[in-house]
Amino acid sequence: MKIFIDTAELDEIKQAISWGIINGVTTNPSLIRRAVDRRGGKISMEDYIKEIVKISPGPVSLEVIGQTSEEMIRQGRLLHKKFSPFGEVAVKIPINPSMKEDEGLDFEGLKAIRQLSMEGIAVNVTLIMTPEQALLAAKAGAAYASPFAGRIDDFIRANLGMKRGYDFQKEDYFDYELLRRAREKRLDKALESASSIRDIYKSREINSLLKQGQDNGIQSGVDLIARILRIYRAYGFKTEVIAASIRNPRQVREVAELGVHIATLPFDVLRGMIKHYKTAEGMRRFMDDVVPPYRTLFEET
Ligand code: E4P
Repeated sequence: MKIFIDTAELDEIKQAISWGIINGVTTNPSLIRRAVDRRGGKISMEDYIKEIVKISPGPVSLEVIGQTSEEMIRQGRLLHKKFSPFGEVAVKIPINPSMKEDEGLDFEGLKAIRQLSMEGIAVNVTLIMTPEQALLAAKAGAAYASPFAGRIDDFIRANLGMKRGYDFQKEDYFDYELLRRAREKRLDKALESASSIRDIYKSREINSLLKQGQDNGIQSGVDLIARILRIYRAYGFKTEVIAASIRNPRQVREVAELGVHIATLPFDVLRGMIKHYKTAEGMRRFMDDVVPPYRTLFEET
């Protein structure tokens, strides 16, 4: 599994690269804005991005801001032309650039993905929230597809009436298995009390229970990624899946178990992956047991 770092903070990128486990960088307009703001106007955004591209050991994903295919193709070419002399660049295109219903822009992303990919520019398709969108991204020739696991978990929790910051924190693990068990128990009860199959299909209670704690059949962000991988493997698509919007180390474990190609991880998630209470305790115990003769093993003779 390749690991990308999901940040635009140069210090974080440099530090993570020094650990020897980073294969690329993903950014978005929010991350770049925050990082450049923090430098208080001391560096232009363009020079700042060049720095990131120069130090990254692999592709740096940079996002377009257009909504029509023409704009996105123009911007994608420009990003590629400006920054690829300094390193590897992937252009981030949203799977669907519409910001509201009926904007008429739904397929503009696909057209841009197809064109840029045909020109040999690696496209990272962003904001993927369904396996169907991921299938279309692969059909359009994307090099990478980025499903947003954390935002799907947020969405499912929000639909259950849970508020981020109150009922759960951004970095909290989403226990979809617990939800599934709770839903099934209630469903079993409701099914038992229904008198016919027709009643089951018509029952409001059963229908609402079926929809709870999931997004149109997707149980969680990790489940979204599992389904995308299943589809890609079934057809042998070359598009690599980047598990994005990852919020905690346990999510990394779960996408790694699925064999995801890449996970893009915020700095704090990466830091969390190395820690365990018993590892630190083990270190203290080993160190306490070091006797002088053992110490002499490390003296140059
Ligand atoms: C990376 O490609 C995405 O922009 C990023 O993972 C989004 O993460 P967030 O949902 O935590 O903002």
